[in-house]
Amino acid sequence: MNGHEVRVELGDRSYSVYIGAGVRHHLPRVVAALGARRAVVVSARPAEWVPDPGVPHELVTARDGEPDKNLATVEELCRRFARAGLTRSDVVISCGGGTTTDTAGLAAALYHRGISVIHLPTSLLAQVDASTGGKTAVNLPEGKNLVGAYWQPRAVLCDTDYLETLPTRERVNGYGEIARCHFIGAGDLRNRPVAEQIAASVARKAAIVSADERDTGLRHLLNYGHTLGHALELTSGFAVRHGEGVAIGTVFAGRLAGHLGRIGRARVHEHLEVVRHYGLPWQLPDTADLDQLVKVMHQDKKALDGLAFVLDGPAGAELVRGVPDLAVAECLAAMPRG
Ligand code: GLY
Repeated sequence: MNGHEVRVELGDRSYSVYIGAGVRHHLPRVVAALGARRAVVVSARPAEWVPDPGVPHELVTARDGEPDKNLATVEELCRRFARAGLTRSDVVISCGGGTTTDTAGLAAALYHRGISVIHLPTSLLAQVDASTGGKTAVNLPEGKNLVGAYWQPRAVLCDTDYLETLPTRERVNGYGEIARCHFIGAGDLRNRPVAEQIAASVARKAAIVSADERDTGLRHLLNYGHTLGHALELTSGFAVRHGEGVAIGTVFAGRLAGHLGRIGRARVHEHLEVVRHYGLPWQLPDTADLDQLVKVMHQDKKALDGLAFVLDGPAGAELVRGVPDLAVAECLAAMPRG
């Protein structure tokens, strides 16, 4: 078998994530191993990007992006599954960026109270993070990812051939999640081939998800750099992309950890070095409104009591709750702008 294989160990729901050039061609073997007799392929990419799954199948065209990540799309997908005659022992195959794998994953979780799903993520961001770990969700007008389910895929095929077509900004965006892995135990992934970078990031995520599938503790680590990152995405109307926000948030997390005396200057600087190495943004946008950012960070799901950040420290990264507003405001004000 070509490429890397990472196992997500979850008892009888364990599965493999395959990473490398051409791994999409494992699809018929994976479908056969499930015993599925029919498939629906939900794809935001050209039909030929998904290999023949080896069973009778129908193609449903999807569109990547937040506007279609909603309950109306989930209903439409479930209706297409019904019209295609999918049963509980059949399979959904998703192909596209994280919004497509999320929406198809949620439809699979709900249809017949749960049907198998295989993800073929095509963006670096989705390969590194979104497609593995079983979080599926769609947006409501009231907020992002408010309706979802934990529904683990039966396999994930991260074909690095798909990445060849990504626009530069989208590829760099994916490195935001790889950069944050540097500080949550994946090691230094700089200057390694992209398949190794993805495999090491997925392996770290797999270990965390195996220990804390439902995000009650350890899984918070995956949100390194995300508290400010999410706030930057939201307050910019998503002009700042997810990985870009995480990158700036990672630099900020290093500076805040330094400010709180949790890490020394060299480690603070390492945050900047890693983010810059991947060509990611590291400065707060000129237009950022600091009061607004603090307000949005108070609405973070982890912020039960005051502000919450995943911060590096003597024992490694951990969730720190009750971070004083003043410390956050001082660090934000001291961030370079650009
Ligand atoms: N993307 C964070 C998680 O899967 O928990």
